[in-house]
Amino acid sequence: MTSQDLWVPEPVRVLSRKQELESTWTLELEQVGKRSFLPGQFNMLYVFGVGEVPISLSGDTSLTESLVHTIRAVGPVSSQLAAMQPMAAVGLRGPFGTGWPMAAAEGSDLLLIAGGLGLAPLRPAIYHVLRNRERYGRVVLLYGTRSPDDILYRDQLEEWSRLPDFDVHITVDHAGSDWQGKVGVVPTLIPTLAFDPEDTVAMVCGPEIMMRFTASALRDAGVEDEAIYLSMERNMKCALGHCGHCQFGSTFVCKDGPVLPFSKVRGLLSLKEF
Ligand SMILES: Cc1cc2nc3c(=O)[nH]c(=O)nc-3n(C[C@H](O)[C@H](O)[C@H](O)COP(=O)(O)OP(=O)(O)OC[C@H]3O[C@@H](n4cnc5c(N)ncnc54)[C@H](O)[C@@H]3O)c2cc1C
Ligand code: FES
Repeated sequence: MTSQDLWVPEPVRVLSRKQELESTWTLELEQVGKRSFLPGQFNMLYVFGVGEVPISLSGDTSLTESLVHTIRAVGPVSSQLAAMQPMAAVGLRGPFGTGWPMAAAEGSDLLLIAGGLGLAPLRPAIYHVLRNRERYGRVVLLYGTRSPDDILYRDQLEEWSRLPDFDVHITVDHAGSDWQGKVGVVPTLIPTLAFDPEDTVAMVCGPEIMMRFTASALRDAGVEDEAIYLSMERNMKCALGHCGHCQFGSTFVCKDGPVLPFSKVRGLLSLKEF
């Protein structure tokens, strides 16, 4: 696509819609034009006449016929997107942004750490690792949610946890007596893991406060700031580095991110967006 095309939403059809959680849905959209996507990138999805929002790819980026996005209905645009039925038309611009450092991380151990809906932007990285398992060392997925009812992609997590070379640890903030798993926020899992911090790349996605505490726990465990990658969220309009809505210090989250090394964002994490 030319950069000029990236300003204009292209109408694509919804192919399928699946409910994941109470207010979270996965839409499979038709893939027009054989664009290529990297794990960690996002598209701008436009509900005609309502508005446009950034949504990460949550499916396997090697799929050539469809694009998968998982959407939580929180406001006017995301609610209408999540309600889209098969055959409805959505405007799509993209892909935008940096991806997870899949090539740079080859040969290293991986810590994939997600909070809540943050598992959606990490899922393409997981598909990539599983397709190229021999390129990575030990792989550990840490996932935290508020309660057992908020666990996203539950069936897949169970499937991945049965793989011999893929460790999955799930924790919830609170649970009833029928929950047999761990309780506590996700950063508390980090000191319980045995891993080589000098040979580990961490990819983290979740609410900003969770990422701040997770990065701090990773540092305490000896992982270098340059080896910790966070996927940042900021309000966006153009997604092309022109409007300044997503500006974060001197960084434009839409084009320099959303995936950024902690070394680049550590001083900015508490800044409010505008
Ligand atoms: C790079 C990037 C990738 C993203 N990927 C995804 C994704 O894969 N799936 C997804 O569902 N969302 C994702 N988001 C967030 C999504 O863009 C926003 O939820 C969306 O813009 C909300 O727009 P709205 O018009 O529906 O609601 P708004 O009117 O913008 O917001 C309505 C209310 O919800 C609150 N709100 C806004 N965003 C969130 C949020 N993320 N979580 C909780 N409350 C929120 C607002 O503060 C406000 O109170 C991503 C954002 C970025 C920047
Ligand atoms: S969204 Fe316009 S500069 Fe990033």
